[in-house]
Amino acid sequence: MDEKKVMLSGIQPSGDLHLGNYLGPLRHWPEMLAEFDCYFFMADLHTITVRQEPAQLRRRVLTQVAQYIACGLDPEKCTIFIQSHVPAHAQLGWVLDCYTMFGELSRMTQFKDKSSKHKDNINAGLFTYPALMAADILLYQPDFVPVGEDQKQHVEICRDIAERFNGIYGDVFKVPAPYIAKVGARIMSLNDPSSKMSKSNPEGCVFLMEKPEDIARKFKRAVTDSDTVNPVRYDPQTKPGVSNLIQIYAAATGRSFADIESEFQGRGYGAFKPVVGEAVVETLRPIREETERLLADKAYLESVYKAGAEKAEYVANKTLRKVYKKVGFVPR
Ligand code: TRP
Repeated sequence: MDEKKVMLSGIQPSGDLHLGNYLGPLRHWPEMLAEFDCYFFMADLHTITVRQEPAQLRRRVLTQVAQYIACGLDPEKCTIFIQSHVPAHAQLGWVLDCYTMFGELSRMTQFKDKSSKHKDNINAGLFTYPALMAADILLYQPDFVPVGEDQKQHVEICRDIAERFNGIYGDVFKVPAPYIAKVGARIMSLNDPSSKMSKSNPEGCVFLMEKPEDIARKFKRAVTDSDTVNPVRYDPQTKPGVSNLIQIYAAATGRSFADIESEFQGRGYGAFKPVVGEAVVETLRPIREETERLLADKAYLESVYKAGAEKAEYVANKTLRKVYKKVGFVPR
């Protein structure tokens, strides 16, 4: 019997994965496989709350499945699937829409942000997004949901919805706890070290699938400062650019800041930047090559997400049946 606690995480295939994603949370995910029964899914239903180019969305979903495997999420040891392959998400999402209040959805900060960013497409899905996310979670009765700061409010509302439903119908849902996952380094943009590395500023961002020469170029152009005496020093307050590079180099090589500072003592940025670029190229190379190999092996990739959907569906449907029965739907 499997006694492991259950952990679930959804990832939006809304952009290409980058070094910040990798050196931040992603790199630590494989460590969770031993400890938890993990579900990872591509949240494509969520992604269409913002208009997508269909071919791009398809490519991103498949690329991300391949990238997660390449980053160490062994599909034999966890469940990887695509949200739209498991209809129970949309089905429970509808039910939970009816147990989620207009007022509480109106208070969601992500809704406020996204609706001000996409004023021409403030659709109902964007508004009810948290109820669908609650369905994603509650279907699998997870103990933990690892999320970043920006998603905490959504896990909170999920707990509220679960408690409300349980309050009416008895213990149907396990109320999940947010899980403060081990977050690795907080990586900043290479050309604007005051903001986080992000796909929206591509020149300051290194993508996992990027060619080595492009990575090298971005590092050579990385913003530093005009310090000339011993410039390679870690001091995020006064030297945000070089401190970010030191952080990246440390994360890529496993070396300490002090060790890096002493290696580059008395040497300038001209010596340091290409070395960091090279370390990143070598860190990402096996991931990129493995992703490309997996993407070329369509049959294998398909077998992974199909098996994942089947496993997920089995668990999800059990919860959905219980919910349908509780609310009074006639069994088919
Ligand atoms: N909303 C999450 C994000 O944008 C993605 C997501 C969808 C998710 N469903 C989830 C995360 C369920 C955790 C659990 O990042």
